[in-house]
Amino acid sequence: MFSNYYYSFAILLVVSTIQVQTENVTITIPLNKTTDLLNKELYGEYVNLNASSTLQVGFTDVSKSLAFIIFQVHSHLYNITLYNNTLTRSSSVYGTNIGIYSAVQSTLDKFFIYNQNMVNLKLFISIHGYGDKDPIPGGCNMEFQPPISPSMHMSYNNDYVLIEAASARDSADLACTSINDVIVVFYLMYLPERSFDSDTYFEGIQNMMSLDNISENGEIIPQTSWRMRRMLSAYPGTGAIYVAVAYNALNHSAYSVYVPTYTYACSPLDESGCELLDDVLSQFLCASLLFFGLFICYFGHRFFKTEMFLIGSITGVVITYILISLISELDRPALLGAAILSGLCFGAIWLLFWWFYGIPVFTVLLSTLNLGFLFAALLYFGMPGGLSALQTDFNFWTLFILIMSLTSLILLSMTFLSNILCCAILGAYATVYPIDYYIGSNLKYIIINTIRRAVVPKFNNAVLLPPFEWMDVIMTVTWLGLAISGFLFQHYQNRGRPPFPPPPRSVRPSMPDITYGTTGQRGYANVTHRPTSAHESYNENTPLLL
Ligand SMILES: *[C@@H]1O[C@H](CO)[C@@H](O)[C@H](O)[C@H]1NC(C)=O
Ligand SMILES: *[C@@H]1O[C@H](CO)[C@@H](O)[C@H](O)[C@H]1NC(C)=O
Ligand SMILES: *[C@@H]1O[C@H](CO)[C@@H](O)[C@H](O)[C@H]1NC(C)=O
Ligand SMILES: *[C@@H]1O[C@H](CO)[C@@H](O)[C@H](O)[C@H]1NC(C)=O
Ligand SMILES: *[C@@H]1O[C@H](CO)[C@@H](O)[C@H](O)[C@H]1NC(C)=O
Ligand SMILES: *[C@@H]1O[C@H](CO)[C@@H](O)[C@H](O)[C@H]1NC(C)=O
Ligand SMILES: *[C@@H]1O[C@H](CO)[C@@H](O)[C@H](O)[C@H]1NC(C)=O
Ligand SMILES: *[C@@H]1O[C@H](CO)[C@@H](O)[C@H](O)[C@H]1NC(C)=O
Repeated sequence: MFSNYYYSFAILLVVSTIQVQTENVTITIPLNKTTDLLNKELYGEYVNLNASSTLQVGFTDVSKSLAFIIFQVHSHLYNITLYNNTLTRSSSVYGTNIGIYSAVQSTLDKFFIYNQNMVNLKLFISIHGYGDKDPIPGGCNMEFQPPISPSMHMSYNNDYVLIEAASARDSADLACTSINDVIVVFYLMYLPERSFDSDTYFEGIQNMMSLDNISENGEIIPQTSWRMRRMLSAYPGTGAIYVAVAYNALNHSAYSVYVPTYTYACSPLDESGCELLDDVLSQFLCASLLFFGLFICYFGHRFFKTEMFLIGSITGVVITYILISLISELDRPALLGAAILSGLCFGAIWLLFWWFYGIPVFTVLLSTLNLGFLFAALLYFGMPGGLSALQTDFNFWTLFILIMSLTSLILLSMTFLSNILCCAILGAYATVYPIDYYIGSNLKYIIINTIRRAVVPKFNNAVLLPPFEWMDVIMTVTWLGLAISGFLFQHYQNRGRPPFPPPPRSVRPSMPDITYGTTGQRGYANVTHRPTSAHESYNENTPLLL
């Protein structure tokens, strides 16, 4: 008697302690909502799930027209587990955006959502119901758990994001023998830059959940090498929602939507989180770039030697950076340090070259090549992805160098103006670049994407699709404004000066020893009539100061 009493007391104690930790909840969802062709959502609500508790979901009133449902749960930042009646590895899914397929039989599965984190979570639960003609998302799955996997799989590194989904199964194709009967289209939508809060996230997820919203808000990600996988350039700090839609190849109104997934391409929960410039060297360089950029933009041509040095250094830095990353695996500060050192050498060499030889066309060549590089990079940045001809590295780099050299050649025909133009545009870009880091817009990726293309293996399969939001618009306008004002200012500033200062220590015998900067009534006409080549050599009547 006593032992029995003691026994039940012990059970009570155990049960009550469990109840303190985990407060499991049960909800029952009716599945008889009428849906239309473009929006098959039967249910979509937020629930709060406390730390280490389980939410059990049952169903009632299952509509007769349903053949299967996709049950999906979305959480922000924290992983959760979703499983049906049996919690085994083959029936559970784990992640932030997860879903389970369930055929509608006499009794529908119960689903359990388990929050194993130490924080209470807000979740969005959504159920989509499909008919018997619709393809099953992830129905021909061969790589992921569970056997039918409507969730999408996302992974990322510093350079790219990989999105994968399992092949869909057509309703008529029971054995997965003809997976090409189903076309799977991937879509992408960007969230506002640098906004990591959960409201923005959930709104974004809901905007990519039903077909009408997807076609309104999403951009198609073009297919590159793989049927069920997409590679995208990473824009850390800018959230993106990805979703795939499976269409029957013959009947486009038979479709189903996968479970959307998302990434910021960085982890806001981590210590350094989504801070892009986490080392002091990069921060310092970025800040100094602002001043160099402004200087080049407004005074580049006036201080020609400084311009030569800076342009030479930047070229050296970019080239060394690419070369070193191609041959070795260094972390960014070391890489940058090495690139800076070699860039300084390169700048000094280029300056010496001008110092002793001073051929304007030749010296301006480097600036115009830089502008050509920026222009070609800009074309690549804005180019629609999925052009299979440009996936081959050889084609891509041939075209890239062609555009770069053509731009450079066209500009070279007017050395003086083109040097001012190069100073203005490159200087303005260098000014915008660090600001871009601080406010989180994405113009920096014009250069970074090109470097990734050169350095990152398999990046030829990546689709760029850069986000272009209002921050980017502001930065573009700033860039244009700086470039135009810089060009006009330098044009005004250098009026009445010789187009190019003489090199200080010319080893070319024919160069007149004129001092740059002396004032006088000198216009372009006088200057251009100045003898410039060895054939029109000077005699003692030629004035020393023109
Ligand atoms: C709550 O769910 C967890 C995990 O499924 C289980 O271990 C626990 O016993 C449940 N607690 C109660 C009070 O039902
Ligand atoms: C979740 O936790 C909060 C506070 O910790 C509590 O007030 C609430 O009742 C809990 N919810 C459930 C469903 O147990
Ligand atoms: C769904 O079923 C419930 C209970 O049978 C009923 O009250 C409700 O009106 C139905 N809703 C629709 C949209 O048919
Ligand atoms: C969620 O799971 C993924 C792998 O499944 C892991 O890389 C990530 O760190 C997890 N996130 C959290 C917040 O635990
Ligand atoms: C749970 O899900 C797995 C995998 O989807 C499925 O094979 C199994 O039949 C389901 N279990 C029940 C009891 O419905
Ligand atoms: C989805 O689209 C429908 C119709 O186009 C619209 O009424 C609804 O508000 C949209 N949902 C969201 C979350 O934007
Ligand atoms: C096309 O798909 C829709 C939606 O599933 C279905 O109602 C319709 O019967 C299909 N048409 C044909 C010709 O199979
Ligand atoms: C050329 O320079 C001389 C004196 O240096 C000046 O008198 C003359 O007006 C100038 N010609 C033009 C076209 O500017």
